[in-house]
Amino acid sequence: MKLVIFGPPSAGKGTQAQKLSQKYGIPQVSTGDLLRKAVAEKTPLGLKVKSYLDQGRLGPDDLIVKLIQERVSKPDCKKGYLLDGFPRTIGQAKELDKMTEVDVVLNIVVDFDVLVERAVGRRSCPKCGAVYHIKFNPPANKDTCEKCGSRLVQRDDDKEETVRNRLKVYREQTAPLVEHYRKKGKIADIDGSKGIDAVFEQMVKVVDGLSRSP
Ligand code: AP5
Repeated sequence: MKLVIFGPPSAGKGTQAQKLSQKYGIPQVSTGDLLRKAVAEKTPLGLKVKSYLDQGRLGPDDLIVKLIQERVSKPDCKKGYLLDGFPRTIGQAKELDKMTEVDVVLNIVVDFDVLVERAVGRRSCPKCGAVYHIKFNPPANKDTCEKCGSRLVQRDDDKEETVRNRLKVYREQTAPLVEHYRKKGKIADIDGSKGIDAVFEQMVKVVDGLSRSP
């Protein structure tokens, strides 16, 4: 099973990817998480992409495609994977088309007005990657990850000005991919304005439907 979770910044891609990964037993492959890890560890890739992340711009296609190729060639991806945050440009989508055929693109559709609030209120676990929201999905113990007990942090690129830039980049460079996949008959629109569990239910319906279709 090869799934893509698609949508604007803070639409809920990571939140849903973690739930789907657990339900279907396939790894979540998040370019954002891989890049943030590279930046934190100051690897050569991390040093190259740090300024892109800080400004909310997209990293260069060649680096990102190589990162994905390396990640999906690992043994845990043999049975399938869930792409979260990739592809994000027409160039990346064309490279993915060459690599494999995805089963479905789960396209989270949500009004841009709510996205800034979702991003600014997000708190993430730097250790296990769990995602919370101070209002919509608060952790049981303030500032502490429920899964691993680490102290939660606010992402550097979740400051309002950077979030607005990420939304602009999405509109200009990433939103056109919806047409690319619609033409291939791969898009499943998901109403992302609902609560986390209701969004998950819609996705499960689509994914379960894949195994029933001929
Ligand atoms: P990335 O980490 O992919 O950021 P993003 O696409 O901007 O997505 P987010 O992680 O912000 O949000 P999300 O949709 O996962 O939402 P979440 O579930 O956390 O990329 C970061 C940067 O890396 C990019 O700017 C770029 O520089 C670089 N990059 C990454 N991929 C790249 C690529 N392919 N090419 C080039 N550069 C790349 O939810 C957000 C908040 O809302 C949370 O607090 C959550 O609890 C809450 N929430 C979730 N769902 C709901 C709901 N239904 N109702 C209410 N609240 C909700």
